[in-house]
Amino acid sequence: MPGPVKLSCRNLWKVYGPDPARFFVGSSEGPDALAQKMRAGGHMPAAIDAGFDVHVGETFVIMGLSGSGKSTVIRCLSRLIEPDHGQVLLDGEDLLAKSAQELIEIRRHKLGMVFQNFGLLPHLNVIENIAFPLRLQGLTSAQQRDRASHVIDLVGLKGREHSYPSQLSGGQQQRVGIARSLAVEPELWLLDEPFSALDPLIRRQMQDEFLRIQRVLKKSIVFITHDFMEALRIADRMAIMRDGRIVQIGTPEELILNPADDYVAQFTGEVPRIKILRAHQCAVAIANRPEGLPQVGPDDRMEGLLPKLAASPAGLDVVGQGGAYLGTVTATSLVETLGRIEGAGPVPVAHG
Ligand SMILES: Nc1ncnc2c1ncn2[C@@H]1O[C@H](COP(=O)(O)OP(=O)(O)OP(=O)(O)O)[C@@H](O)[C@H]1O
Ligand SMILES: [Mg+2]
Repeated sequence: MPGPVKLSCRNLWKVYGPDPARFFVGSSEGPDALAQKMRAGGHMPAAIDAGFDVHVGETFVIMGLSGSGKSTVIRCLSRLIEPDHGQVLLDGEDLLAKSAQELIEIRRHKLGMVFQNFGLLPHLNVIENIAFPLRLQGLTSAQQRDRASHVIDLVGLKGREHSYPSQLSGGQQQRVGIARSLAVEPELWLLDEPFSALDPLIRRQMQDEFLRIQRVLKKSIVFITHDFMEALRIADRMAIMRDGRIVQIGTPEELILNPADDYVAQFTGEVPRIKILRAHQCAVAIANRPEGLPQVGPDDRMEGLLPKLAASPAGLDVVGQGGAYLGTVTATSLVETLGRIEGAGPVPVAHG
């Protein structure tokens, strides 16, 4: 069950060029036609009519090729880039209507941002880097120290408090960036490719760390990545962008099983199907099955059930609410389902 809407981005446009405003006066074209007109008029529409909601506690991922407008959109959400049109509602209040002073307060208290290149201050050590935004918040030195050491614990940097950024590995530097953004206790957490500069092993560790932190803190998150496997691990829902437009929004499973077009399919094509299948999608009714088969939940991911299935050749009973028998997963039914979805046929998408 999704929580209430935390952030709502509506009809958001960012257009680079000499005079973007004129295109929005009295225009009746659809977004694609309008974007075309902008291009023809020497403008670059970097975000075109972008719209999505992020719910409380939800991780919303944005993916797309380089230059598709991901950073533009996430920066418009905090007005690091000033949008040309649309609305960004945080708790129902339009950020685009806020004064510069109000915006500073909102950024200081409600928003956390993490950037790809870490963005640390080189002349400050770990604890000073993390305390920096807290000083801006007006906390006392004691409060700054307490908060900073709490988030240092949270991201696993204990013992490195007095190191300078140049003395840290990339992964450690990004932990500092993450700690610094969390120290302000943001309600909305914006992360622009936070792990792309890290090698695969460290990256995986950072994803685990991220998931652990999110299980505890339940922030509302917008997270940009180039990596569909990363999205699959962390996203509740995701958007795919192409040339400034959002072309599809859905759960990673929905995008994999029912891509809107070939562009989306390019991102999802590499994902091994076993990673997304859930037990109920592979179950078949078996009347004369042995009693006492191990029971699994309908939404359990098959990948995690493989050892259990290997240990129970007669299969696993899929059991719903109140113990209702929904079917049995066997090695055969699993392989048949995999065969079906590797081909053209979509399978029903599990929710939950
Ligand atoms: N200041 C600017 N002036 C003109 N065009 C710009 C400006 N900043 C960005 N753009 C263009 O806007 C488009 C979107 O850029 P953006 O940085 O949002 O892409 P991205 O999806 O984040 O790419 P990447 O994956 O490489 O980070 C690009 O074509 C870029 O060249
Ligand atoms: Mg970018």
